[in-house]
Amino acid sequence: MQNLEKRLSHSYLRRVSKESYYTPDCILYVCCGSKCKKRGGKHLYKQLKSAVKEQRLRRKVQIIKTGCTDHCKRGPVVTVMPKNEWNFDVTDEKAMSILEENAR
Ligand code: FES
Repeated sequence: MQNLEKRLSHSYLRRVSKESYYTPDCILYVCCGSKCKKRGGKHLYKQLKSAVKEQRLRRKVQIIKTGCTDHCKRGPVVTVMPKNEWNFDVTDEKAMSILEENAR
């Protein structure tokens, strides 16, 4: 009987912790495909990730790295969802302004 209670409480805790997941207001997809990586895509990804952490914006903005988005000549590419806003040739400054704009 005690074993059953333990199991029930364990499944209850798992369910409660799943319910505490959240969905951010917006997601910035940073292309880290080979071409964008050469042009600084990975650096942008790391910079945006650390800015979100430092400014405690996790619940508002999520940063996700992606593979090639077929716009290699205009990389690095940062896409804002759900706005479906595509930003090309993104620099450090532009990346931070995109983050600031979407974190409001
Ligand atoms: S590598 Fe980024 S668009 Fe192709």
